[in-house]
Amino acid sequence: MDKSDQSNSLISDRSGSEQSSDSDTTFTEHPLSGKELYTKACSNCHGTDGKGGSVKQLGLQTPPANFTDCNFASREPDGDWIAVAHQGGPTRGFSTEMPAFGEALSVEELQKVMNYVRSFCTNKNWPRGELNLPRALVTEKAYPEDEAVFSSFIDVENEGGVTNEIVYEQRFGVRNQVEIVLPFGYSQMPGGNWSGGHMGDLAIGVKRVFYHNYNSGSIFSLTGEVILPTGDTASGFGSGTTILEPFASFGQLLPAGGFLHAQTGLEYPVLQDKAENEAFWRAALGKSFNPNPWGRTWSPMVEILGSKELESGTEIHWDAVPQIQVTLNKRQHIMLNVGYRIPVDDAGRDSQVMVYILWDWFDGGFFEGW
Ligand code: HEC
Repeated sequence: MDKSDQSNSLISDRSGSEQSSDSDTTFTEHPLSGKELYTKACSNCHGTDGKGGSVKQLGLQTPPANFTDCNFASREPDGDWIAVAHQGGPTRGFSTEMPAFGEALSVEELQKVMNYVRSFCTNKNWPRGELNLPRALVTEKAYPEDEAVFSSFIDVENEGGVTNEIVYEQRFGVRNQVEIVLPFGYSQMPGGNWSGGHMGDLAIGVKRVFYHNYNSGSIFSLTGEVILPTGDTASGFGSGTTILEPFASFGQLLPAGGFLHAQTGLEYPVLQDKAENEAFWRAALGKSFNPNPWGRTWSPMVEILGSKELESGTEIHWDAVPQIQVTLNKRQHIMLNVGYRIPVDDAGRDSQVMVYILWDWFDGGFFEGW
């Protein structure tokens, strides 16, 4: 899940006042270390080794989270876990068997507990969830994902057209991900009638993270994608050639909940008479905030998209896409993004309303956690 850094910053503003009254009365006079706090408050259920105790012995219905499982633990940002520990499981749509510690422990103490909990996953190759920045509408992020995204791009001028895209992404290994993109669309005929269900060019890609650093807040990955000529060219939904698309993506956390995505790549059509070589570069700058520190995350962003066909001496195309992403459910693994694509250089191209619904399926079923 995304965006917990900023909830952290909001949360820590509150911690100063809570700390002196709550923590000192519940626990001892001198400040306890993260390990001591964990041992007192959490180890009973989550185990001194972090593996999570037995449901049977504890008399619970739900197994307590296993913090030694890097595949699970690395992708959850501290902010989400502090929210769960402070407010209890239900705040993120989890079981009430995960108690709320907000009365007993300050956010600062919970942060210490988290720093200790992080030591249970011993393989630091896994990119941390904090680097999973909110997804933009077009720019591809560097972080590998287990998610499904349904997007619609709706032309709002001239003859109408709707292009939809289903993107399925699945992680494998510590730093890799495969993705499949299936576009399909509807177009409006000159007479006003719609023709529908045209298949577009199916794309398959593999992404690998080459660099990530939690302290500097940066992540870099390379992706190789093959776009197959499965599209209905007669209706304008295919290029008629296989296209190879290598690209690089970079993500950077910025202060105060800010973030930046950048992506650049090339498209090489195998049949050069069907389409031209094209270079593209994209960036998205945004900021996440939580009006209620434990609630929904809003992430407004602006994307700038540039592309150029390499041979024909055409102009560079520039588009701007202001947009806002919001988490829809308590678990924050279902998100909506709505934006508007404005051609900056060339009034001949259509503006588009762009929308996606994103389901981070690793975090639970679509209908879980509301
Ligand atoms: C009474 C038992 C119990 C105690 C004590 C307890 N937990 Fe939990 N915890 C659970 C259970 C059960 C779950 C699983 C909830 C679910 O999956 O619905 C859980 C889940 C979690 C999660 C996982 C949320 C996720 O993203 O899946 C975190 C983080 C967590 N606990 C942190 C803590 C911390 C920190 C403490 C100590 C301050 C603590 N827990 C103490 C029972 C407990």
